[in-house]
Amino acid sequence: MVYVNRTSDDGALIGRDLPDLSANRLGRALRTARDLGFSGIHATIRRHGFRETAHFIGRNLRHIIAHRIALAWDQRHGVDTAGSIQLDGLTIKGPNRKFGNECVCTSPQSFEFMTRFLPKDLHDYTFVDFGAGKGRTLLLAGRNGFRKIIGVEFAGELVKCATGNIAHYKNAAQKCRDIQVIEADAVEFVLPDGPLVIYFYNPFTREVFDSVMRNVVRSLKADRRDCYVVYGSSSADAIDWAGPAILATGCFTQVSTPPMPFFFDAVRTIRFGVFRLH
Ligand SMILES: C[S@@+](CC[C@H](N)C(=O)[O-])C[C@H]1O[C@@H](n2cnc3c(N)ncnc32)[C@H](O)[C@@H]1O
Repeated sequence: MVYVNRTSDDGALIGRDLPDLSANRLGRALRTARDLGFSGIHATIRRHGFRETAHFIGRNLRHIIAHRIALAWDQRHGVDTAGSIQLDGLTIKGPNRKFGNECVCTSPQSFEFMTRFLPKDLHDYTFVDFGAGKGRTLLLAGRNGFRKIIGVEFAGELVKCATGNIAHYKNAAQKCRDIQVIEADAVEFVLPDGPLVIYFYNPFTREVFDSVMRNVVRSLKADRRDCYVVYGSSSADAIDWAGPAILATGCFTQVSTPPMPFFFDAVRTIRFGVFRLH
């Protein structure tokens, strides 16, 4: 697998050289349809049923539209955060590659919706994104007026991409510019002092999540401070086990939130929970 560390005209790192499953999805779908031919398509619909086929097409169309919106967002802000980047072939820190999920960034509208359930004044809080990917949430969180913003990411190529994005992000509404991404396995990361908002977008499986949450609880018990955990998931229904796991620590209460609305910029609708330290 080739990773070329290329830069755009203005010097921004282009992660589009990373293997991306979102790129040219429409072209691949049309090629598959052409290869199947009319009889092949007919047989496929008969095999899977009309409903399932319609669902499949709907899911793919949504993905294609969301990807286009993400590319436009990137262009507007001078960054590269779009795509579905597989971890195979990336340079991973630590032993937890097999527990990690692909890099797909949180949609801006979904992120804005989830942060509505946090305190209005966040100027004392540090935002930590475990599994920061290309760093889109780090850029988005900059509008929320956090004291500091930290991304933890174990794939070296994604860290480079996120670092380039932080350097090149253009947004006049940015209130916090103290943003950094740390190349580390989430289980090794030591939480900073002060109040926290901890964010997970389905970054890894239960094995790693439990061990990260144990570190979170240990840190909060050693140094009690305000803490919110926001957990979002879309590709797997990870919130179904992550939510109960957060509550099972005995330290958090779930904040009441409505379901996420449909947003065109999201490849799938995120299911999420917001938890506050009690
Ligand atoms: C679904 S993406 C989320 C990206 C970002 N948080 C967002 O919402 O835009 C999950 C990311 O977690 C990273 N990841 C998975 N396991 C990890 C681990 N053990 N330590 C650090 N990062 C990890 C993956 O490389 C991937 O970039």
